[in-house]
Amino acid sequence: MERLDKILVSQGIGSRKEVHRIILSKRVRIDGVVITKPDYKIDSERCEITLDGQAVNVKKYIYIMLNKPAGYVSATEDNLNRTVMELVPKELYRKGLFPAGRLDKDTEGLMIITDDGDFAHKLTSPRNHVFKTYYAELDKTPNREDINSFEEGMVLEDGTALMPAKLAVLSDKKARVVIGEGKFHQVKKMFAARGIKVLYLKREKIGGLELDSDLPKGSCRELSKSDKDVIFIGK
Ligand code: URA
Repeated sequence: MERLDKILVSQGIGSRKEVHRIILSKRVRIDGVVITKPDYKIDSERCEITLDGQAVNVKKYIYIMLNKPAGYVSATEDNLNRTVMELVPKELYRKGLFPAGRLDKDTEGLMIITDDGDFAHKLTSPRNHVFKTYYAELDKTPNREDINSFEEGMVLEDGTALMPAKLAVLSDKKARVVIGEGKFHQVKKMFAARGIKVLYLKREKIGGLELDSDLPKGSCRELSKSDKDVIFIGK
């Protein structure tokens, strides 16, 4: 059993103060009965909550796909930079959201934001090997030796041993990279180890989940259950 106000705040209906105002103005019903006490205790799995006659579909966690633009850091707070959290629209926002995994400030593309810590861990744990696919524009076209080196699993200058990765040349100075772990600046460091500079980087896929081609840069949408499942296909 949980307090009604707490449930509504957790679903992004508003701040605690706003939710209190909403409840006191008789806009919330539990199983058809108007409830005006913010601390009224309910079991959200067994009751139907409505706000202005519309069902409030209580979800324990939320999973959001963001098409990250350059210029935003993958953090919940930052003193100097704009964070990806600023791109989450009000209707999807709730307390406890954080980016599941990091993209560099200048990297674009698929990012997942959630409040489900176990899910985020499953996604980002190097031991879990959820493959991440990147599109890269480079200052040089990789050659056969570069491709082999990625495939063999390289050891970076600082001694970090990496899992084998797939490098495919798409056209002049353009490539696709698939990595099974997510070490800090990994893609850039792998290319740097081969004397190649990454000029543009975009994450296209996490596991089997592709960035929606019609999701504009800087926009978010909620993941469906099948989107979530497709991430871990083959795991
Ligand atoms: N590898 C990088 O170098 N940067 C990213 O943002 C993601 C992977």
